[in-house]
Amino acid sequence: MLEITDLSVDHAGVTALDRVSLTARDGVVTALVGANGAGKSTLLKAVSGLLVPRGGGIRFEGQSLLGLPAQAVVQRGICHVPEGRGLFPFMSVLDNLLVGAHLRKDSAAIRDDLDKVFHYFPLLKDQRQRLARNFSGGQQQMIAIGRGIMSRPRFYLFDEPSIGLAPLITREVLNTIATLAREDKRGVLLVEQNANLALDIAEDAYVLELGRTLLAGPAQRVKADEGVRRAYLGL
Ligand SMILES: Nc1ncnc2c1ncn2[C@@H]1O[C@H](COP(=O)(O)OP(=O)(O)OP(=O)(O)O)[C@@H](O)[C@H]1O
Ligand SMILES: [Mg+2]
Repeated sequence: MLEITDLSVDHAGVTALDRVSLTARDGVVTALVGANGAGKSTLLKAVSGLLVPRGGGIRFEGQSLLGLPAQAVVQRGICHVPEGRGLFPFMSVLDNLLVGAHLRKDSAAIRDDLDKVFHYFPLLKDQRQRLARNFSGGQQQMIAIGRGIMSRPRFYLFDEPSIGLAPLITREVLNTIATLAREDKRGVLLVEQNANLALDIAEDAYVLELGRTLLAGPAQRVKADEGVRRAYLGL
C-alpha cells in the first residue's frame, strides 16, 4: 500500500502540489485524474524520488520513501512508467524488456516474467528482435509496460499510458493494467487524461485541480459526480 499524506511540492518556488493526501491499495487500480498542469506527474515524480517535496509524507508498505534517491525507490519495488515511455529506440524489443530486469539476478524468474509479457502482448514475442523505434505509439506503450513488468515491481506508477493511442488500443492497454493489478495483487497508481476509461477500470479515484484534491472516493462515485462529469468527462 502506498500512503501519501499532506504532500506539498514546489517547482522553482511555485506550488505544484498543496497538501495532497492519497492512498493506493494493493490489487486494485487507483486513478488520478485532472486537467493539464494539475500536478499529476509531479505527484508521481515525488513518489519515485525524482522530485523532493517541500512537506508531507510518502510511505510504501509502512516505510517512508522521503529522502530516498530514485534508484533506492526502484529497489523498494516501485516502478515508474513515465510519460513519453523512455524506450531505447535503437535497441530491440527484447533488449528494452531486459533493461527492466537489470537489477535482478533470478534468471529463471526473469524468463517467467518474459513469458508473462509475451502472454499479455503476443506481438512483442513475434517481433522481439525488431528495433523499438520501428513500432507504433501503442506498441511502444506495450514495450514500456512490459519493461515495467520485467522489473517485477510491487507497485506501478503509470503516467498517461494512453497518450497518443487510438481508442481501441487505449482500452487494451488499460485493461492489461487492470489485469496486472488484479492477478498479481499489485498496487497501481494510474494517471490518465482519459478520465472516462480510467474511472471504469479503477476502484478508487482522486481528482486533482491546480495542485489540490478536488474529490476522492470510489471510482464509480467520482464518475457519477456532476462536476466531474461536466469538467472531465464531457457529459
Ligand atoms: N520542471 C518544472 N519547472 C517548473 N514548473 C513545472 C515543472 N514541471 C511542472 N511544472 C508546473 O507544475 C504544475 C504541475 O505540473 P505537472 O506536470 O505535475 O501537471 P500534470 O497534471 O502532470 O499535467 P499534464 O496533464 O499536462 O501532464 C504546472 O503548473 C506546471 O507548469
Ligand atoms: Mg503530466
